[in-house]
Amino acid sequence: MDLHLDGKTAVVTGASRGIGLAITSALVDAGAHVVAGARSRTAQLEELESRGQVTFVSVDLATADGPIALVAAAEQRGGIDILVNNAGAVTPRPGGFVSVTDEDWDASWSLGVMATVRATRAAIPAMVRAGSGSIVTIGSVNAFYPDPGIPDYCAVKAAVTNITKALSKELGPKGIRANSISPGPVMTDLWVGRGGVAEVVGRASGVSPQEVADSAVAGTATGRFTTSDEVADLVVFLASDRAANITGSDVRIDGGFITTV
Ligand SMILES: NC(=O)c1ccc[n+]([C@@H]2O[C@H](COP(=O)([O-])OP(=O)(O)OC[C@H]3O[C@@H](n4cnc5c(N)ncnc54)[C@H](OP(=O)(O)O)[C@@H]3O)[C@@H](O)[C@H]2O)c1
Repeated sequence: MDLHLDGKTAVVTGASRGIGLAITSALVDAGAHVVAGARSRTAQLEELESRGQVTFVSVDLATADGPIALVAAAEQRGGIDILVNNAGAVTPRPGGFVSVTDEDWDASWSLGVMATVRATRAAIPAMVRAGSGSIVTIGSVNAFYPDPGIPDYCAVKAAVTNITKALSKELGPKGIRANSISPGPVMTDLWVGRGGVAEVVGRASGVSPQEVADSAVAGTATGRFTTSDEVADLVVFLASDRAANITGSDVRIDGGFITTV
């Protein structure tokens, strides 16, 4: 299937590893140039850069200026066809709701919500001028599956999913689509890396990280984690004009983690 992404410019936030790196790589494979934002430049991104397919921008997306600088770098290339709001982080809260401080909430909100708000706000004028554009935001099943172990993460994911729907209504008549994706557990550092969910929850509950990871997908239909590449394929499809009449949708990719309709 030709996705017609040759020569398009995409901005991907949180592109240095995990899902964002897979999205970057998949967009490049489909012919797009990716303006890739993260705090650190990884070897995999360097490799794509050396082939001229990626422009890396070192930014802290939790700051007011970071998302603006990233989008500006894409505009310097002549425009923005695709924006993928992917950057995110989760901090397990084994101490429960009362242990989550104002500073914790602020940090979660700054990266989880405001990075998406700021990048999207900065990208919209160029998309409106072009009369086209596609915005894909990575939410989570936790947007509608609240988990008391990560209350701030659930709240920010609910917020970005909600914002995406509102945006789709405003921007649809201008030729711009906005969709979100809600993954279940995905095999990345966020879950299984050093300091990831499996390690932190395992330490707090006295079980191994592997047991935590196994139990996260034990009741699902496929019985396994989603891969970053599987999420990336969905992003690329939604970003492309093959999905021209899909907007305001939240697409779940969770191997049946959510058991209700
Ligand atoms: N993994 C899952 O199970 C899962 C499930 C549902 C949804 N999601 C969502 O998918 C997205 C990607 O998650 P992931 O699993 O790929 O996580 P990850 O492996 O931890 O990667 C996170 C990415 O975000 C970047 N990032 C984090 N803080 C940043 C900051 N302040 N400024 C700039 N970049 C920052 C990181 O780059 P640097 O550290 O280099 O800055 C990295 O590239 C997140 O929104 C997450 O909530 C993940």
